Amino acid sequence: MDKLTQVKTILKKYNQEHLLYFYDELSDEHKDMLLNQILNINFDEIISLYQNSLEPSHLDINTVSPLEHLEKNKFSFDELNKYIMIGEKKIKSGFLAVVTMAGGQGSRLGYKGPKGTYELSFDSDHIKKSLFQIMCEDIKRANQKYNIVIPWYIMTSQENHIATEEYFKLHDFFGYPKDKIKFFIQENLPLIDVNGKLILQEIYQIKSASNGNGNVFKSMKNNGIIQDLENNNIKWISFGGIDNVLLKNVDPLFIGLADEKNYEIASKSIFKRRPLEKTAVYCRKSGKPSILDYDDIDINLSVSRYEDGTYKYREANILSHLMTLNAVKKASNYSLSYHRAFKKNAFVNDEGMKQVPDKPNSYKFENFIFDIFSYFDDMLLLRVNEDEEFAPIKDFTGIYNPDTAKEKYEKYWSINKTDS
Ligand code: UTP
Repeated sequence: MDKLTQVKTILKKYNQEHLLYFYDELSDEHKDMLLNQILNINFDEIISLYQNSLEPSHLDINTVSPLEHLEKNKFSFDELNKYIMIGEKKIKSGFLAVVTMAGGQGSRLGYKGPKGTYELSFDSDHIKKSLFQIMCEDIKRANQKYNIVIPWYIMTSQENHIATEEYFKLHDFFGYPKDKIKFFIQENLPLIDVNGKLILQEIYQIKSASNGNGNVFKSMKNNGIIQDLENNNIKWISFGGIDNVLLKNVDPLFIGLADEKNYEIASKSIFKRRPLEKTAVYCRKSGKPSILDYDDIDINLSVSRYEDGTYKYREANILSHLMTLNAVKKASNYSLSYHRAFKKNAFVNDEGMKQVPDKPNSYKFENFIFDIFSYFDDMLLLRVNEDEEFAPIKDFTGIYNPDTAKEKYEKYWSINKTDS
């Protein structure tokens, strides 16, 4: 059977024949490109993800219990020093690596280019700094303080990989030793519209996008990053997103605590101030560490407290995690479940014209990094201060916009001039 007939049979089976609407208009090169792309798509997977996602999910609230946490503010001065010293020793021994997850689409921000290249203007210094530069400076400060060079791994997507690498080259890697930065591309999946149809990005190309930050473990394995960590004798890996300008990639307290208390995985949280705020919180499900989605949180859960008055379900996730290399290796062998996100994506309409929607039009299926927690019996959860560690940029209109992030960043650095 020739390639075209093979493709037509597949598309008919999955009711996706529209993908060849413009086939006759294409150059031979583009025809081949499109056919190859279709042959490489796992239609069974994407169609069943879509169909399963239409079923309402149900959480049995009886399986939910709180996940204990520690609070940075409740440590005594001596305790803080003790754990910081332990963490610093690990860092100085070269046991830490940083992984930055920068493979997202940044669709809510709607900025053209990798989100990490988005620049904030700082009035105080009359300068602009991109999110990548801000993160790079954070790790460089630690390098200087501990007299080491921390290996830095940056996860990109097929969509933004080339642009990300070029951006770093253009800026001479912001002074970071080039051989200590490695970029790796995560996997992707086709997007699907509200009628269950795959969408075209060009008349010769199907639109696909990164499959969520939870794909980081598999992508690290498939791209030789886990091997590289092993070769570098790394023991701890710090994971974070690119869009939090106050993320502490290198935190001796966090490392010291996790190491001394023999945890394999650790996360930071901030206190969720309003009980019904749309924020996911940490919990246990069937005894295993997990995350409670905001749709599953009711007021009773949100206001329930331990005997000492501490709330049980108010520790909000800030995408700041720490894992041992062994835990990462274990994680890379699991297939996490997919979550459905509704996003705005440009598409080719029935007339073959590119259309930019003004509201979400397509489903993206994503693995979330926090779904790995339930494969472990326990984890450290450390509540930190929002003003010191959480200033993300998500969109222009919500509470996590570039202006609020910049304000928090400037305020933090005006108080902590010598911090590292
Ligand atoms: P978000 O879930 O906030 O999404 O990512 P996003 O992709 O940046 O933006 P929207 O939702 O399209 O507007 C949190 C972090 O996880 C990374 C992002 O780059 C960000 O640092 N991420 C997200 C990935 O690395 N890969 C993905 O597939 C998704």
